[in-house]
Amino acid sequence: MLEIEQELAKIRREEHSKSNQPISSNELGGQARDIVAKQIGMSGTTFERAKKIIENAPEEIKKKLRDNDIRTSISKEYQNIVKAEKKEKRQNQIKELQVNLPEKVTLHNSEFQKVFIEGNSVSLIITDPLYHEKDIQLYDDLAVHAVRVLREGGSLLCYAGHFAISKIITIMEGRGLKFNWPMAIIHGGPTSAIFGRKVLVGYMPMLWFVKGKYEGEMVRDVIKSEFQGNELHKWAKSTVESDYFIKYMTIENEIVYDPFMGQGTFGISAVKQNRQFIGCEVNSEHFENARRLISNIS
Ligand SMILES: C[S@@+](CC[C@H](N)C(=O)[O-])C[C@H]1O[C@@H](n2cnc3c(N)ncnc32)[C@H](O)[C@@H]1O
Repeated sequence: MLEIEQELAKIRREEHSKSNQPISSNELGGQARDIVAKQIGMSGTTFERAKKIIENAPEEIKKKLRDNDIRTSISKEYQNIVKAEKKEKRQNQIKELQVNLPEKVTLHNSEFQKVFIEGNSVSLIITDPLYHEKDIQLYDDLAVHAVRVLREGGSLLCYAGHFAISKIITIMEGRGLKFNWPMAIIHGGPTSAIFGRKVLVGYMPMLWFVKGKYEGEMVRDVIKSEFQGNELHKWAKSTVESDYFIKYMTIENEIVYDPFMGQGTFGISAVKQNRQFIGCEVNSEHFENARRLISNIS
């Protein structure tokens, strides 16, 4: 139907152009897309989205939509396609970047548990572990690791799922770190809803632990973050909070470390501020993105 309407619209335009009279698209009978959408009882936008799905989505998704499966919708599947396209575009841009890491940066494509880092050398661990309930063991590994690699007075700042705050504090204190303060990182992106607890979530907790006594500068405990895109990494954080904490909790040339580096967000903050940076990331795709992004800080 679309092909036919496009042909008819073309003929209308050609016939009209011979007359040399200005005319609106409405007078020409409307856009082919809108004509077809009306005929099949959809809005032009829904028609456009459905068309994209027909052209790009796998058969099983199309079947779900045709069967009116309530777990999905045209709008949802359209958003998925747009997201995947953005990711591919961003990934291609990143691939073009040269790898030329600054001297002060050491990155490991490995689980942090397997990486050797000199004891008592790190001033600040700032990190964003996985925080599903099943991943809580990672905080214990992190605690053991942090106690060894942090210098006396060094800090560990880690994001934490709201539900797991008390467990994480118990784990960290059990390994010898002192719980200093909970920070609130106010979301820059859309808020989410936890229906089971009836909460509209507006901030992410970040817990501050210290090895010994912190002697650095005073810091704020509420940071208004900014959404900086998550095309490359679903859980990418913003440099707003890491810029701030690295600035006030460390001095130039001290070591900042992120054992769950992802695409290297906190490494970017560290390098911008002339700190040494160590990062670990187990996933090779994220690791490669981090290498390229940290090599090309403008
Ligand atoms: C929540 S994401 C971090 C996102 C990061 N803050 C950013 O802005 O891109 C956690 C990352 O830790 C990585 N990871 C999980 N277990 C790990 C481990 N044992 N050692 C190193 N990296 C790990 C995951 O692959 C994931 O990329």
